[in-house]
Amino acid sequence: MSDGPLVDIIAGARPNFMKIAPIIRAIEARRASGSTLRWRLVHTGQHYDARMSADFFEQLHIPKPDANLEVGSGTQAEQTAAIMVRYEQLLLQARCQLCLVVGDVTSTMACAIVAQKLCIPVAHVEAGIRSGDWSMPEEINRMVTDAITNYFFTTSEVANGNLRQAGVSDERIFFVGNTMIDTLLANRSRFKQPAFWEQSGLVPGQYLVMTMHRPANVDSEHAFHAVLQAIASGVQGRKVVFPVHPRTAKTLSALGALPNHLVLVDPQPYLEFNYLVAHAMAVITDSGGVTEETTVMGIPCITMRNTTERPETVTMGTNELIGTDPAALRPALDRLFTGQWKQGAVPPLWDGRSSERIAARLDELLGNANAT
Ligand code: UD1
Repeated sequence: MSDGPLVDIIAGARPNFMKIAPIIRAIEARRASGSTLRWRLVHTGQHYDARMSADFFEQLHIPKPDANLEVGSGTQAEQTAAIMVRYEQLLLQARCQLCLVVGDVTSTMACAIVAQKLCIPVAHVEAGIRSGDWSMPEEINRMVTDAITNYFFTTSEVANGNLRQAGVSDERIFFVGNTMIDTLLANRSRFKQPAFWEQSGLVPGQYLVMTMHRPANVDSEHAFHAVLQAIASGVQGRKVVFPVHPRTAKTLSALGALPNHLVLVDPQPYLEFNYLVAHAMAVITDSGGVTEETTVMGIPCITMRNTTERPETVTMGTNELIGTDPAALRPALDRLFTGQWKQGAVPPLWDGRSSERIAARLDELLGNANAT
């Protein structure tokens, strides 16, 4: 088979891994039927703990990265700078024909800038979503990335509208659906009960899952303590399983005694985390991706944020934004426990086939003559 165009696939942080896994699989499926499109997996090393990275590669059968930039932790600027310097070195040694970035993490933005400055076109998966909240680093990453993206792969009509409003022409917008949901649907039958399930006395439908890692919620000890107290009194004795993100762990360790119905566990691998969500009564979170997964699984989701870049999880799905004031938790939980939470629907094209659409489009965009 002759060498076709090379696409760099960039992954850096936990929420990237479930988005790239099905894209790689879809490109491989096309190669098996004649496409010569090639890919090179670049891990920036933004997330490096086994529980934030390697576990996901293993469970989702993601191949070993071709390059690991090993940038590690740092401030926003330090991480951005380190990723840019190291990715530029890689591209100067071996160019690709397209740089494909996913999501909104620091690695997404940093690699897009480097590629575009070397005149390598950029494709952005999950383009066009906006929260309007400039205090979140992810929003800056989204805006900067989309300002220098050539090909926009989108998850929703709202994203398409945002891009059109910013002056992006229709021929560059490809509404493909949600690759994170490709992974969810492909792995649903593999979800795995975590080892602590029995010992923690968890019963399907009778516990909640909580995730919290946004700086606005967890960086202040005082504010985070108030959130935990509000959850403790609001859940009326029910257990709350809380996989603790490394950023959150730093704050938690300073808090001392915690409400005893909180089941504190390490960050969970993909299959265990989604088993927990699938069997939960509800989820309390400040993550964006989790609101999409709960929408597809039909699990009520209480989001402690004032804005969302994924409005369809609220307008169509099971998600509700309650803001960051802990006082809002009690009424939301009361509605949940009295069976008044809304029923949701799954947004258009979140059907498990988004990555196939992306791979087909990549062949077309790169003029890959041998593509089927
Ligand atoms: C990043 C993403 C966020 C995503 C989140 C999911 C950006 C701007 N933010 O935020 O969109 O929702 O990942 O996890 O890219 N740490 C470890 N081990 C690791 C990774 C991080 O201990 O493997 C520590 C770091 O030292 C740091 C903290 O966790 O103190 C935060 O990590 P960082 O990657 O800076 O941002 P996140 O808050 O994880």
